[in-house]
Amino acid sequence: MARLLRAGQRLPSTRTLAGDLSLSRITVLNAFDQLLAEGYVESRVGAGTFVASSVPDELPARPSRASSPAGSDRKARRRGSYRVDDVARHEPGPWFRGRGPFSVAQPPLDRFPWRVWSRLVARAARRLDSELLHYTGPMGYKPLREAVAEYLRTSRAVRCEADQLMVVGGAQHALDVSARALLDPGDPVWIEEPGYFGARRALSLAGCRLVPVPVDEEGLDVESGIARYPRARAAYVTPSHHVPLGVTMSASRRLRLLDWARRSGAWIVEDDYDSEYRYGSQPITSLQGLDGDSRVVYAGTLTKMIFPSLRLGYIVVPPDLIDAFMAVRRATDFFCPIFPQVVLTDFIREGHLGRHIRSMRKLCESRRTALVEAIAHEFGEELRILGDRAGMFLATTLPKGCDDRAVASEAARRGLWAPPLSECYLGRARLRGLVLGYGGFDEETIRAGVRLLRQVVDATRVNSGRRPVR
Ligand SMILES: Cc1ncc(COP(=O)(O)O)c(C=O)c1O
Repeated sequence: MARLLRAGQRLPSTRTLAGDLSLSRITVLNAFDQLLAEGYVESRVGAGTFVASSVPDELPARPSRASSPAGSDRKARRRGSYRVDDVARHEPGPWFRGRGPFSVAQPPLDRFPWRVWSRLVARAARRLDSELLHYTGPMGYKPLREAVAEYLRTSRAVRCEADQLMVVGGAQHALDVSARALLDPGDPVWIEEPGYFGARRALSLAGCRLVPVPVDEEGLDVESGIARYPRARAAYVTPSHHVPLGVTMSASRRLRLLDWARRSGAWIVEDDYDSEYRYGSQPITSLQGLDGDSRVVYAGTLTKMIFPSLRLGYIVVPPDLIDAFMAVRRATDFFCPIFPQVVLTDFIREGHLGRHIRSMRKLCESRRTALVEAIAHEFGEELRILGDRAGMFLATTLPKGCDDRAVASEAARRGLWAPPLSECYLGRARLRGLVLGYGGFDEETIRAGVRLLRQVVDATRVNSGRRPVR
């Protein structure tokens, strides 16, 4: 952009300029002061004000939408990180964008004790003293770590002390921090196949090589992982409730996985995101609780127990890795906001979390039953429900010949949000079906959703040239 005023050129006096522009002299003096402060002009005593000699004659053009680089220019332009391209490969489809039945991302917010929570928020705000307003250590708010450690020891059989507990911004953050602390770019990592796209994203961003290991009715097929990639640096698992198939990892597979990790010096990242919710049996104890060699990094979240926007979770860090994990936090976000941690501590300490989980367990179980019955009513034997009675979602197969992506797309068009199973595979999909979240919806909504799903399935079959089922 060519400039009207050149370096070294004398500016008119403020009095002249004010007269020419019909402005108050104060306005012009203020403008000169600002230009002086920013280094665009310089004043010489007795001589006046001049355009600074250090300002180049050509200023960079201001970017505009219209002038964004095109064609070969765009290619020549240095792009962002290549890793971000890898992460984009794990972006879920449109079926994740909406809110409503059967979104897997919606816990039962309709039954959350909001009054209690608001009271605790108000009380915590009154209690905030200067100690809570300063920078603090990267592990998080000590009383919260003590409360969560106690909860994990008694409810999840996790072996931990508060010193090992790091507060993070949800499970996704736990995966990111763990990947940064444990792994280097290019490191091979076992991931469950099918599996959770959030883990694939975090590990891709860390530059890891994703090694898909099949999951069957007993969870991760450890022998297959060992046969394919014995030297992997880590394994990511959801042993208590696999995403998306809903199976529980068997005791023999757990022991085999721990044995492999011990022998090969690999890490295991256990994502225990919703294990509080099991129906008809006690919660399965954590994999970390079986680990005698401190190879397991245990990640948990408050997303399902409280609400997703709280963005709080935790990592139980093996003692010898605490320094490494703290270094990652110091280099990234230091620590999570303290205020919500204060509120959450009171929520746990005063027994509200325990009560809420107990009532959620009953509620989610009846919502699951409503979904299973509605599926049986609308689809009979055509759909097979996979996985255990646990969590807030279930996976189903689809009637023969249905393309799960086509069904999921049509469902999303009609306001049903159910990701296709085939999207959960990194390689070729062995199973096709849908993942249906039920935790966040009352029974009538669930029944209406399944009736609509029946229509979607029929319409999708007609469109793909097949006869409707009825
Ligand atoms: C396997 C798994 N981990 C973690 C989460 C929750 O993540 P966050 O705590 O980041 O909200 C989910 C959410 O559905 C999940 O499916």
